[in-house]
Amino acid sequence: MSVKRGKYGFDAPWALGGLLFGAVALLALMALSFVNDILAAGLAFLAGALYTLASASSYVYTTRRGKFAVWAKELERLSGDEDVLDLGCGRGAVLLLAAGRLPEGRATGIDLWSGKDQSGNAERVTRANTEAEGVAERVELVTGDMRELPFEDGRFDLVVSSLAIHNIPDAEGRARAVKEADRVLRPGGALLIADFQRTEDYENTLREAGWTDLRRRDLGWRFWYGGPWFRTDMLEGRKPGTPPAHQAEAPAKEVGDGV
Ligand SMILES: C[S@@+](CC[C@H](N)C(=O)[O-])C[C@H]1O[C@@H](n2cnc3c(N)ncnc32)[C@H](O)[C@@H]1O
Repeated sequence: MSVKRGKYGFDAPWALGGLLFGAVALLALMALSFVNDILAAGLAFLAGALYTLASASSYVYTTRRGKFAVWAKELERLSGDEDVLDLGCGRGAVLLLAAGRLPEGRATGIDLWSGKDQSGNAERVTRANTEAEGVAERVELVTGDMRELPFEDGRFDLVVSSLAIHNIPDAEGRARAVKEADRVLRPGGALLIADFQRTEDYENTLREAGWTDLRRRDLGWRFWYGGPWFRTDMLEGRKPGTPPAHQAEAPAKEVGDGV
């Protein structure tokens, strides 16, 4: 998707609001310090304000541009007829990028549509984005919890998730979501989970389930939510086993050769 036609909002808008509020507060303190001739404090508040504004800029870049650029590259591996699932699809940033590369396939997104996790998050908004991007006929939207997926075992060729699993508050729930991703993937299917926390835990969950083809890598500055201390890792892997004969016959099902 070189030009985005949908409207994708802001991830965790409260976090961005906090950064902007912090910058304004620091600028006010700086002005107060300079008015009262407290030069050292004024300069310190100025430095703090610039640092916070730089963090806010990084956050805005990632949520509006960077994550799209990174995922567009990741999804180049699709051959076009896969069945793809996006866990916590929100307004469809990753889901619709995938759908755009699936002329013969399908993209399914599941979400609870939490407005705390993404601004303006609602199924109707995501549906409008499927229309705006011209992929509505290839996309299915499901309202549901990624800890209990309403899909049969082994249905999907690729499961993706971006900045979503960490929103589950407890470790057991996050592990359940990862195990569900494993369950609905076909043997030999690929998994791509981008998250800024806990990817090591997700990896351990999969290793305990018998996965061996797994690795984590840093997604770089384009996926910083404020700076390198809020960077994002990609956990990528391939589910053990060979696909059932009807899936193995189709060469296009060899999704994720780069995985
Ligand atoms: C930060 S947003 C990211 C959305 C999208 N993946 C993107 O990159 O634009 C996190 C998403 O996870 C969803 N979410 C959180 N917990 C969930 C759960 N247990 N089941 C399904 N979706 C969930 C939220 O509703 C939200 O849409």
